[in-house]
Amino acid sequence: MPLLPALRRPAAELINSDAGPWGCPRAPRRKAPLTMAARSLLLIRGGRVVNDDCSQEADVLVEDGVVRAVGRHLLPPGDAPAGLRVLDAASKLVLPGGIDTHTHMQFPFMGSRSVDDFHLGTKVKEEMKILTQDKGVNSFKMFMAYKDMYMVRDVELYEAFSRCKEIGAIAQVHAENGDLIAEGAKKMLALGITGPEGHELCRPEAVEAEATLRAITIASAVNCPLYIVHVMSKSAAKVVADARRDGKVVYGEPIAAGLGTDGTHHWDREWLHAAHHVMGPPLRPDPSTPDFLMNLLANDDLTTTGSDNCTFNSCQKALGKDDFTKIPNGVNGVEDRMSIIWEKGVHSGKMDENRFVAVTSTNAAKIFNLYPRKGRIAVGSDADIVIWDPKATRTISAKTHHQAVNFNIFEGMVCHGVPLVTISRGKVVYEAGVFSVSAGDGKFIPRKPFAEYIYKRIKQRDQTCTPTPVKREPYKGEVVTLTSRGTKEDSTHGTRKQAQP
Ligand code: URP
Ligand code: ZN
Ligand code: ZN
Repeated sequence: MPLLPALRRPAAELINSDAGPWGCPRAPRRKAPLTMAARSLLLIRGGRVVNDDCSQEADVLVEDGVVRAVGRHLLPPGDAPAGLRVLDAASKLVLPGGIDTHTHMQFPFMGSRSVDDFHLGTKVKEEMKILTQDKGVNSFKMFMAYKDMYMVRDVELYEAFSRCKEIGAIAQVHAENGDLIAEGAKKMLALGITGPEGHELCRPEAVEAEATLRAITIASAVNCPLYIVHVMSKSAAKVVADARRDGKVVYGEPIAAGLGTDGTHHWDREWLHAAHHVMGPPLRPDPSTPDFLMNLLANDDLTTTGSDNCTFNSCQKALGKDDFTKIPNGVNGVEDRMSIIWEKGVHSGKMDENRFVAVTSTNAAKIFNLYPRKGRIAVGSDADIVIWDPKATRTISAKTHHQAVNFNIFEGMVCHGVPLVTISRGKVVYEAGVFSVSAGDGKFIPRKPFAEYIYKRIKQRDQTCTPTPVKREPYKGEVVTLTSRGTKEDSTHGTRKQAQP
């Protein structure tokens, strides 16, 4: 039913009919009138609105940065009220804005600083509890790699996971065995392998898989939800998948690099090309890895996608020209993540448009407790929206990308799925190849602890799966007496003493 009369009224009067404020969109109806203060109004017309659980042909009405209505024919052609901007999305998809779960902007790392920035950086130095309770930070990343820099040991992981659980945060790990990497690196250098191939050779798949299993085992001992960042190998992905099937509360995040390219580039004859692919855990030389990871992502063995964007220019990568251990680790991905996943995931037929939305946006919003404000197009959600052309193609290149870095690991890749318009909290920030953003436009969103999506099972297990002691009669027999503790003689020459009744 055309809803022009409704649109002429303040758009804030519109809500979904009966699905609740965050439900699957249905035809809008009116609510109590609101005042007609200066409003910013945007209508995305005629597209196919895709959420993780359903798709529908619908218009989307945005008022002051928030979705106010989702429904058919919100405005008949040619009848736009003054001040309303109409974006045509006919034969296009209208998607929730992507949520990149993992980036490093201006990250001081391995003697350098990654070159892409946020415009606005936030530095957090206070304790975990304060960060979570007062500042809205509900996830913490622990490194099992980077020995003598960031690496934490098992007992520290145990403590950190316990703390995360207490305060309702999600623990994240970079899962690689840092000791084995350090030993492997010495071995490679002793063999005269100083180039980027040494980076992969000293940290084979087992180094990632072992740490992944160890982290899951420790988190499970604490009953703490765990999020494994940058799952890069088939072996580690299998560990995550097996753990999920065993009922563990664990989530795996493959990244654009691992889904879109592979580690054969480490053996490239051109040193810079090879060095620009160095990241940790490494891209794997097994060329079937990207397909494998994508299959697991499609099947919910893996859950979200990040980019781990951490870019260094050639002159920074060159810090390791004589020694691969000095190459700053990190690759690009933040700009191309959605296109890579569309091409390798949806265009290839491995996943549908709804799963695409789940793995690029919705699941992240649920895990990090932003849902349904983010990760969904529904009444009441923030208007973070992408108008997506699934049929158009673009060729990725460092010559045309918008990042600061002078190399692109996806160079030359032709991707179906092109973002035409990007809307951030109701504002068009990208359109027809042009960005309209300024420093400070980004907004930190405090997140509450104990996200239901991850903590419901944890809380229930605490109630029902806590072990209880066996009730027994006290032992009344003999007990050995040790004369003093800890010496060999004492433990082998203990005297026996009759137990007191
Ligand atoms: O090589 C990588 N991944 N660089 C970024 C830092 C990290 O480990 O996430
Ligand atoms: Zn990492
Ligand atoms: Zn990272």
